[in-house]
Amino acid sequence: MTAFTFATTRSLICEPGASERLAEIASDLGMRHPCVVTDGGIANSGMLEPLVTRLQQAGLAVTVFKDVQADPPESVIEQALQVARESGCDGVIGFGGGSAMDTAKLVALLVPGEQTLQQVYGVGNATGQRMPLIQIPTTAGTGSEVTPIAIVTTGETTKMGVVAPQLLPDVAVLDATLTTGLPAAVTAATGIDAMVHAIEAYTSKHRKNPYSDMLAREALRLLSANIETAVNNGSDLKARGNMLLGAMLAGQAFANAPVAAVHALAYPLGGIYHIPHGLSNALVLPHVMRFNLPEAEKAYAELARCVLPSGTLVGDKAATTLINWLGTLSGELGLPTRLREMDINEDAIPRLASDAMLQQRLLVNNPREVTEADAIAIYKAAW
Ligand SMILES: NC(=O)c1ccc[n+]([C@@H]2O[C@H](COP(=O)([O-])OP(=O)(O)OC[C@H]3O[C@@H](n4cnc5c(N)ncnc54)[C@H](O)[C@@H]3O)[C@@H](O)[C@H]2O)c1
Ligand SMILES: [Fe+2]
Repeated sequence: MTAFTFATTRSLICEPGASERLAEIASDLGMRHPCVVTDGGIANSGMLEPLVTRLQQAGLAVTVFKDVQADPPESVIEQALQVARESGCDGVIGFGGGSAMDTAKLVALLVPGEQTLQQVYGVGNATGQRMPLIQIPTTAGTGSEVTPIAIVTTGETTKMGVVAPQLLPDVAVLDATLTTGLPAAVTAATGIDAMVHAIEAYTSKHRKNPYSDMLAREALRLLSANIETAVNNGSDLKARGNMLLGAMLAGQAFANAPVAAVHALAYPLGGIYHIPHGLSNALVLPHVMRFNLPEAEKAYAELARCVLPSGTLVGDKAATTLINWLGTLSGELGLPTRLREMDINEDAIPRLASDAMLQQRLLVNNPREVTEADAIAIYKAAW
């Protein structure tokens, strides 16, 4: 048997409408004064106000930080820290997509501690305990509600991760009613991000294990079966619930069997061109998979059986059939499919490749070694 360790968020509440019980969930964690961390899009969507009102009606003092930006830069984390410190809050509620949830994690970690943001970048550098932390995802994508990871934009074009066991939240509240208003393009991109988490966890070179495999297969089954309905009929609560569950299962998988070259090659697209995280992944996904095929064919064929009807998987072509299916999925969901559609010049490819090579934290997990020349070839195929 494979030896492995597995860690996840201690308590998962997966129920449409569960966020209406947030005051009770927060009180059970000892919160008297939570800081709700969210972004302007959520604040303007009409979802924030009832959530805050219910907390206040239950007698909790509430501070709201609603200035999170997508792919949060350091300055936003610092602002959130200042607001939370000045408020005297005793717990944190992340409410939004990965950007809000990652900011919430860092607030919960850094407000009670002695460390600066810069001191905790990297793996296992955080010391001390965080404040109680609840995460309420409103996208079905990052799985941040069950990962020990927070991603920060550190410069004009670079991102860094904080990976520490303290970042695993106490409670994740999966309330699909909060995702029915998610715009189609965000639903598509974040849904593909979640699919990439499942695929890369399933082929992760060092920490792939039976538990993460089981989660990745079920995640990909749910996500692939529901993404088209969720994009085309956003109010379908069943599809939304399945996407949210699938994204969480994929998050649990990759939190324990980390992602690899798709994410490594996607990061420079987000960093330099500010392409949203999920779309960046979607643009390189089929091309990285084609490159990985010599080492990952068996794993991809196994995943193909979770996605496609068995009658379509003839002979030894199952892996290729999956890659081709994923290659057409983005376009069918209305997303751009080529780098050239994103105003990226072909002569930018060497810079993209050299930036991608800096993501060794991720590249070491890839089933096939990626050289800089390989990265150039993959970007060219994606262009
Ligand atoms: N912590 C992790 O494990 C992890 C994993 C992958 C990615 N990430 C990070 O997460 C971030 C991306 O997160 P994301 O893809 O969830 O996007 P996001 O949080 O940046 O949100 C994207 C947009 O969608 C809007 N939105 C979110 N939910 C909505 C809803 N229900 N209705 C209407 N609008 C809504 C937001 O206002 C925002 O404008 C990146 O910074 C990425 O690096 C973190
Ligand atoms: Fe991701």
